[in-house]
Amino acid sequence: MTASVFDTLDTPVPDAILGLAAQFRADTRPGRIDLGVGVFRDEAGRTPVMRAVKAAEARLLEQQDSKSYLGLEGDMGFVERMAPIVFGTAHGLGDRLQGLQTAGGTGALRAALDLVARANPKARVWVGLPTWANHRPLILSAGLEVAPMPFFDQASQTVDVGAMLEALSAARPGDAVILQGCCHNPTGAVLEPADWDALATIVADRGLLPIMDLAYQGLGDGLEADAASTRLMAARVPALLIAYSCDKNFGVYRDRVGALWVIGTNAAEAARARAHALAAVRTMWSMPPDHGAAAIRLILEDAALTADWRAELDSMRSRIVEVRRALAAAHPLLAPLGRQTGMFSLLPVDAPVVERLKTAHAIYAVPPGRINVAGLRVDQVETFAQALARAI
Ligand SMILES: Cc1ncc(COP(=O)(O)O)c(C=O)c1O
Repeated sequence: MTASVFDTLDTPVPDAILGLAAQFRADTRPGRIDLGVGVFRDEAGRTPVMRAVKAAEARLLEQQDSKSYLGLEGDMGFVERMAPIVFGTAHGLGDRLQGLQTAGGTGALRAALDLVARANPKARVWVGLPTWANHRPLILSAGLEVAPMPFFDQASQTVDVGAMLEALSAARPGDAVILQGCCHNPTGAVLEPADWDALATIVADRGLLPIMDLAYQGLGDGLEADAASTRLMAARVPALLIAYSCDKNFGVYRDRVGALWVIGTNAAEAARARAHALAAVRTMWSMPPDHGAAAIRLILEDAALTADWRAELDSMRSRIVEVRRALAAAHPLLAPLGRQTGMFSLLPVDAPVVERLKTAHAIYAVPPGRINVAGLRVDQVETFAQALARAI
């Protein structure tokens, strides 16, 4: 047999989360707990379709009379209805703000990074560590260089804004920096308004391009509070990209709903940048998937459905806060989790402890210790804390 062109692909592609999920499925121990999942779970351990989404989908089924292409930019009604939720009802950005629908938050990030590469092929993309596992591959896929900076210390559970600012003081004009707007994945770490202020100042002073990654709006401190950092940046810097995911806050994960917004110094610049983002999109998914974005548009066009979505999102958020409070009270090591936000935290333990949690207690966390707090029911928190106490 002749050699295959794939023979050179001899390096395995590890995926910590998929590997862990397979191990969890194979584990038959009663009481096993999966904290590796990346999705919201309710108290019954389900990831339900939200009520407003179900209602909008029924309407969509009835009303939709064509599945013809919408265009590279997707459903602009969806994009326009999302903008006030993200930027506020009185953002005053006018045509400096221009958006497009994307295939999820991942698609928005990839389109943003391709846009950066078109604007400045030599740009480095600064990212605080640890961060969401897909940031680095996304930066590399766009042909850009990753510039890591310190962000969070797992053992002490502290954010080092000073180290971030010092790293960024070495950034070159035209470099980009990815900043998670809320509910940091994987740490849950919170930046204070003064920290965002200092970041906005250095970004503006050094001519950097921030990419706000907003994937969990509404799951931290609420829709308004979770958008505060993005709004602060939008008010303070001349140019900004916002990569947004609706997959978590509308629970439409597999429908792949996201948006990319470009803010430029003026309308013409924003329009030019948006056109380049669309050109990048053309070579990836071309036209984004429609269903989820159309359902979300229908929700946002209807006051009652919007109110129901907000109420259900808030009850999801409350559940996360409740589990966090219970965790913080259950063991001194877990106290910092009560001050953190969103679904994820990085346990202040080392690798052998994470391994022992799995092997001795059937509790699955993603190495080096990321847990999804929504993977726990409140009545499991005590069991979890006792297992942790035995594993450390
Ligand atoms: C920080 C962060 N950004 C972006 C995304 C992308 O979300 P989506 O599923 O919409 O692509 C995720 C998903 O896990 C995330 O954690």
